Amino acid sequence: MGVETGMAKLLLPALFLAATACIGAHAKFIRHSFPKDFVFSTGSAAYQYEGAYKEGGKGPSVWDTFSHIPGKIRNNDTGDVADDFYHRYKEDVKLLKDMNMDAFRFSIAWTRILPTGSLSGGINKEGVAFYNSLINEVIANGLKPFVTIFHWDTPQTLESKYGGFLSENIIKDYVDFAEVCFKEFGDRVKFWTTFNEPWTYASQGYGTGAHAPGRCSPFVSSSCTPGDSGREPYVVTHHILLAHAEAVALYNARYKPAQRGQIGITAVSHWFVPASNSTADARAVQRSLDFMYGWFMDPLARGEYPGTMRAYLGARLPRFTPEQAKLVRGSYDFIGVNYYTTYFAANKPPPANGLEQTYDGDIRANTSGFRDGVPIGKPEFVPIFFEYPQGLRELLLYTKRRYNDPVVYVTENGIAEENSRQIPLREALRDGHRIRFHSQHLQFVNHAIRNGVKVKGYFTWTFMDCFEWGDGYLDRFGLIFIDRLNGLKRYRKQSSKWMERFLKREETHY
Ligand SMILES: *[C@@H]1O[C@H](CO)[C@@H](O)[C@H](O)[C@H]1NC(C)=O
Ligand SMILES: *[C@@H]1O[C@H](CO)[C@@H](O)[C@H](O)[C@H]1NC(C)=O
Ligand SMILES: *[C@@H]1O[C@H](CO)[C@@H](O)[C@H](O)[C@H]1NC(C)=O
Repeated sequence: MGVETGMAKLLLPALFLAATACIGAHAKFIRHSFPKDFVFSTGSAAYQYEGAYKEGGKGPSVWDTFSHIPGKIRNNDTGDVADDFYHRYKEDVKLLKDMNMDAFRFSIAWTRILPTGSLSGGINKEGVAFYNSLINEVIANGLKPFVTIFHWDTPQTLESKYGGFLSENIIKDYVDFAEVCFKEFGDRVKFWTTFNEPWTYASQGYGTGAHAPGRCSPFVSSSCTPGDSGREPYVVTHHILLAHAEAVALYNARYKPAQRGQIGITAVSHWFVPASNSTADARAVQRSLDFMYGWFMDPLARGEYPGTMRAYLGARLPRFTPEQAKLVRGSYDFIGVNYYTTYFAANKPPPANGLEQTYDGDIRANTSGFRDGVPIGKPEFVPIFFEYPQGLRELLLYTKRRYNDPVVYVTENGIAEENSRQIPLREALRDGHRIRFHSQHLQFVNHAIRNGVKVKGYFTWTFMDCFEWGDGYLDRFGLIFIDRLNGLKRYRKQSSKWMERFLKREETHY
């Protein structure tokens, strides 16, 4: 009841948009308010969903190692079982179909395909068979597979052997892995993303140490594996960008002509609003965007890191050779954009002790969801996130303006509630906040499309409640509720019913 009342208010801006911009449009905000080929879907990731971490010939990844270190993950949770998607995917794909989804975004666990990470360790036929079966199931249910090649689960063998993404050796092993994927699955997979959120992998894995492989400078945290928070994130990102570009070059040369798919990369960025009208704060906004988004987008669109980063970091920032710059520049058919929140940004001087360099400190911005104690948008259950749907439109317009108007898929956007055994099931399924959240963000995506941004799809994060990295199972981001106390039984939240109605395909077209 509350949900329906809320919806009525939300429909007003959409009605206004539809009425002013599109004669003959449906008078309701629904799938048909978007271009006909727009892809609506939801996403997942192997480590967060599959479980079966030692089954089917799978080798260990850095996330298997990291999550088993007591104290790293809230409640000492692990992805050992996760949603048991490895065994239940058929039942789950059916739920996607029931929601009238167009596609399904999932990642391939590198160590299910190559248990040691390298071709020399052999291809695991059982792993290939699993993804063949998943892809076939997805397609048989009328959905398009959107496949992420790397979603943070670096093979532990490569981490131990040469330091994973700290070494340029990773480039060849990654490209070999990607090629196995193109070869085995590319006849049916037409949308590939090479990497998901490399910003998170580099900044959390090597800057703060909060994610696998858990490295940081000893002055940042004594519980990290000792690393260098002012250097390693930049090295890791450099190798990720080169691995990405080489995989794309290989795909374009050897697979695309016959398979006719598209390949891109998924970046994440917050939007930033200046905390004041000062020039210093305006510069802090630009640095915040450059260090989070431009770090990837500038090389991809122009072949070099943002000027703000080059000028400040000097020799700490790797350089692209002219050949590498050429390889990286333009190495995508589309850009995946993940968006969750907007922050205020204020100028902040570098740390007084010039020796304690960190990626975070290098930005020289104080970013926060609050200004003078007032939140920028409604604070969410996950305390780092604030509801600011117009920020998604701003980020999309910025992407068009600054980065040569690429084709964009919003590959993640979502909101969580708490996983608590105090909340009765009936109440846990009532997620009006999620309906409102997606409805509002979709209206701003719609607005961005009307402003000329080539947005081609929107994927909610996430399909089902799952392992949320450092937060373990505390955050429920799903459209589907997983009952972790009763055999992982799946229940549809109200938002999944809303999605089903929103995405209903009608006979009449305009
Ligand atoms: C996690 O494991 C460590 C070591 O066994 C233990 O000291 C700690 O209390 C555990 N934390 C939780 C939340 O259970
Ligand atoms: C910035 O300036 C505009 C117009 O002068 C004003 O309306 C706004 O409140 C100012 N914002 C801040 C954060 O001071
Ligand atoms: C950073 O922002 C927070 C929240 O607005 C504020 O409390 C803090 O004083 C700021 N710190 C600096 C160094 O500007």
